Amino acid sequence: MEFERVVRERYSCRQYQKTPVARESIRRILELAQQTPSWCNCQPWQVLLVTGEALEQFRLALHAHAAQGLPARPDFPFPTRYEGLYRERRKICGVQLYQALGIGREDKSAAAQQSLENFRFFGAPHVALITTEQDLGVYGAVDCGLYVANFMLAAQNFGVASIAQAALASYPDFIRGHFGLPVHRKLVCGISFGYAEPVHPINSYRTARATEQEATIWVD
Ligand SMILES: Cc1cc2nc3c(=O)[nH]c(=O)nc-3n(C[C@H](O)[C@H](O)[C@H](O)COP(=O)(O)O)c2cc1C
Repeated sequence: MEFERVVRERYSCRQYQKTPVARESIRRILELAQQTPSWCNCQPWQVLLVTGEALEQFRLALHAHAAQGLPARPDFPFPTRYEGLYRERRKICGVQLYQALGIGREDKSAAAQQSLENFRFFGAPHVALITTEQDLGVYGAVDCGLYVANFMLAAQNFGVASIAQAALASYPDFIRGHFGLPVHRKLVCGISFGYAEPVHPINSYRTARATEQEATIWVD
């Protein structure tokens, strides 16, 4: 039951309190996430855990970089298009966010400003940047995806809110340069985390899911 509650209560948090999570709690989250399985047990994830003054510097630098509006150049290609069901789900996802904030459909400028908040980590006091090894290809990235899920559930288990952000993989060259990462470390995504700002409208809605029947083809 406890596991079920953790899974059901996690959501993507987009506004955080400034209060940092105690280092000991972060270590416990990291230690639990290390239990993630991976192909050949390679454990390709490396976590750049950015916090404190280093995070404040990174927040300013990345936001300024993203605000230039340069095209994203991710290490792993972003989706090229969303059609049919996926287009519809993506649309609902955006509508929920902008309705919660009172941003109208035609207000492109407010939507763009809100989107840039990704690069301020939504005010979170910590961000984990997840990289994989180039040679391990797409399955290295899959292993990292499993790690991200376990990290977020481990965080939820300790009352810590989080959000996975592919947006943080938009400018990997800039991030590698900022932290001196080698070019063979490929950026999968980031996870911003901390204590949720509970009354902020952006944290007030929950996303829906298709039923398990819709997602499953049984073959007896
Ligand atoms: C790999 C991945 C990347 C994501 N990237 C972003 C992002 O860049 N910005 C954002 O606001 N949300 C991002 N999300 C959050 C999704 O929008 C969110 O998980 C989805 O809408 C379901 O909502 P929930 O997490 O609240 O259940 C990402 C989620 C995942 C799993």
